[in-house]
Amino acid sequence: MIRPEDIRFCVAPMMDWTDRHCRYFHRLLTRKARLYTEMLTTGAVKHGDRARLMGFNEFERPVAFQLGGSDPKELAFATKIVESQGYAEVNLNVGCPSDRVQNGAFGACLMLQPKLVADCVKAMKDATVLPVTVKCRIGVDDQDPEIALFELAENSIAAGVDALFIHARKAWLKGLSPKENRDIPPLDYTIVHRLKKSFPKTPIAINGGLETILQIKEQLQHVDGVMVGRAAYHNPALLMMIDAELFNAPKPVHDDFEAIEALSSYIEKELVKGERLSNITRHLLGLFAGQPGARLFRQKLTSQATKPNASLETLRSAVNEVRVATLRLQLAHAEKLAEAESQ
Ligand SMILES: Cc1cc2nc3c(=O)[nH]c(=O)nc-3n(C[C@H](O)[C@H](O)[C@H](O)COP(=O)(O)O)c2cc1C
Repeated sequence: MIRPEDIRFCVAPMMDWTDRHCRYFHRLLTRKARLYTEMLTTGAVKHGDRARLMGFNEFERPVAFQLGGSDPKELAFATKIVESQGYAEVNLNVGCPSDRVQNGAFGACLMLQPKLVADCVKAMKDATVLPVTVKCRIGVDDQDPEIALFELAENSIAAGVDALFIHARKAWLKGLSPKENRDIPPLDYTIVHRLKKSFPKTPIAINGGLETILQIKEQLQHVDGVMVGRAAYHNPALLMMIDAELFNAPKPVHDDFEAIEALSSYIEKELVKGERLSNITRHLLGLFAGQPGARLFRQKLTSQATKPNASLETLRSAVNEVRVATLRLQLAHAEKLAEAESQ
């Protein structure tokens, strides 16, 4: 079972972005958010290197695992493996529009087959004690969302789904890239609000285009939760505010310098295991945004962290760019003040 408060704030599943390093970093910034893995297909779960593809650090918990697939038996099998790996939830992808996914006949094209989605949810539920959830769009192509979304929800709920995550725009299966499909089809938040009114007992979270605490709080007047993708990734400052603003809980870290210090021992341990610094620091490029020296911080990290001998010192030296630029600015202000006073 999922309680509505469990999904009050979620960081969306994002392929190539929300890997275990990213999630560890995000967990340092917010203890309260629910974190999602990247999507993994049932085939990869079955045949792939599980330690590499599915391993995670205890500190990341609770982590929800997103599966891609459309064969109920395969999904049931994969769900059992997900449960055995210690995840908190299994989420079925009914929203990804990429060609690769369409060829496998899953992701967003499942919006066209609500009965099959119900069979998938039922098979997954029967295979696990974990909550089984669905992340979907409001429709695809020329579907009428008033029918498509409500049918998908109704079928999933009848099959026992524990929560729904709705990316509040259609996916256009032909002619748009996955990236365009995250921006071009217009957002319709009100249909998700109406869905919640129609299914008051099912926890429902809204997703798509949310960037600020104010917008998030507005949405929470209508639905149980919000799921934030790009803004959470690009703007760590947003995640740092979540616990205090949405959960009335203490902030785990207070600024970007503290966030990096908190991550240091993790980085050291990962480097000892043979991980490349850049695989971790590529997720940190949104830190210090808007502060003096931020551009140099990013430049230094992207150019130096990929080198074979890159170490924690490489990161510290990039952070120093921000410290030095801040001091320079403060000095320049002080000099101006002194000059004004002497005149
Ligand atoms: C780089 C990237 C990868 C994504 N990969 C996935 C994925 O694996 N599974 C999924 O359901 N959605 C995926 N998405 C979509 C997001 O989960 C989310 O629905 C979308 O970005 C809209 O939310 P936002 O406006 O808050 O970013 C991805 C988005 C991005 C930017």
